[in-house]
Amino acid sequence: MGIVDAKAVVVTGSGRGIGRGHCLGLAAEGAAVIVNDVDAEEAESVVKEIAAAGGVASASAHDVGSREGCEALIEQCISEFGKIDAVVNNAGIVRDKTFLKMSDEDFDDVYRIHVKGTFWCAQAGARKMVEQGTGGSIINTTSGAHMGNFGQTNYAGAKGAIASMTYTWAVELARYGIRVNAIAPQASTRMTGQLKDRDGNVIEVPFIDPNLNAPAVVYLVSDEGNWVTGQVIGTGPDRLVVMNQPSYGPTVLREDGWTVDAVRRYFKTSLGGQLQPFGLRKVPYAHLSGVLPPEKK
Ligand SMILES: NC(=O)c1ccc[n+]([C@@H]2O[C@H](COP(=O)([O-])OP(=O)(O)OC[C@H]3O[C@@H](n4cnc5c(N)ncnc54)[C@H](O)[C@@H]3O)[C@@H](O)[C@H]2O)c1
Repeated sequence: MGIVDAKAVVVTGSGRGIGRGHCLGLAAEGAAVIVNDVDAEEAESVVKEIAAAGGVASASAHDVGSREGCEALIEQCISEFGKIDAVVNNAGIVRDKTFLKMSDEDFDDVYRIHVKGTFWCAQAGARKMVEQGTGGSIINTTSGAHMGNFGQTNYAGAKGAIASMTYTWAVELARYGIRVNAIAPQASTRMTGQLKDRDGNVIEVPFIDPNLNAPAVVYLVSDEGNWVTGQVIGTGPDRLVVMNQPSYGPTVLREDGWTVDAVRRYFKTSLGGQLQPFGLRKVPYAHLSGVLPPEKK
C-alpha cells in the first residue's frame, strides 16, 4: 500500500531533473503518472524506469507552452487512467539576462512556459476535477528567485506570478475540495548548470539530489495532505519550509491621511530603520544614504 494508491497524476516537464524525481516518488507510492516533457525520449525513459520498478506510467510529449498542449495533456490522463486527481506544474526554462539587456523574446518565452503553462494546465485539470466532483490537488512550482534575483527579471517575475496564482486559486477552489500549493525546490539539474554570476562565470554549487523534492509533493497529492492549501513549501535537499505569506509590514497611520509634507517629515524617521533586505540573498538594507548614479570620471 502506498499513500497515493490509484491516484492519477500529471507531472509537467518531468523527463529529467526535479519532475522526474516527482514521477518516481509518486509511482513508488502507488500513483499512475503521466510523465510529460517536450523532450519525448526523456519522458519515455522515465516511463520505462517506472515500469521496470513495477509502477504505472505513460509518456506525453505535449508542449505546455500552449493551451492546446495543456488541454490535450489533461485529456490524456483521463483517457488513460479514467480520471485526474492531481496536476504538478513543474516544466520550466531559464533565459537569464540582465534587465537592461533582456529582450521581449527572453521575457515572453519564460512567461509563456512558466506562467501561462501553469495557468492552462491547472485550469484544464481543475475544470475536470470540478466535473468529477472528486476534489484534487494542484501543485505549482515557484522559486526563491521570486524574491528578486540578479539576471532573472523574466524568471523571477514568472515565479512571483505563480506564487500569487497559487494563493488566488486556493481561495477560489477550496469550495470544490481542490487544494492548491506550490513548492520552491532545490536541486542540481540542467537548469542550475546554467546559473551564472555577475561576471558571467558559471556558478559551481555542491550536488543536490533532485529526487529529494518528491516526498513533499507525494504528501500534497495524498488524501492525508488534504489539510494543506494556499502554501508555498520550500523543499530539498534536507529542508521542509513554510514560506511566509506576503503581508503588509511596519505601518504608520495618520489621522486624515498623508500629505507630501508629512511623508517628507515622517517616512524616513518612522520607517527608515524598518526597510527590509530585498532579493534572494537578503543582504542588509544598504541604501539609506541614497541610491545615486555613479560618479562622473
Ligand atoms: N533546480 C532548482 O534548484 C530549482 C529551484 C527553484 C525552482 N526550480 C523549478 O523546478 C522546475 C524543474 O526544474 P529543473 O531544475 O528540474 O529543470 P530541468 O531543466 O532539469 O527540467 C525542466 C524540464 O521541463 C521540460 N520542459 C521545458 N519546456 C517545456 C514545455 N514547454 N512543455 C513540456 N516540458 C517542458 C524540459 O524539457 C525539462 O526536461 C522548474 O519549474 C524550475 O523553475 C528549480
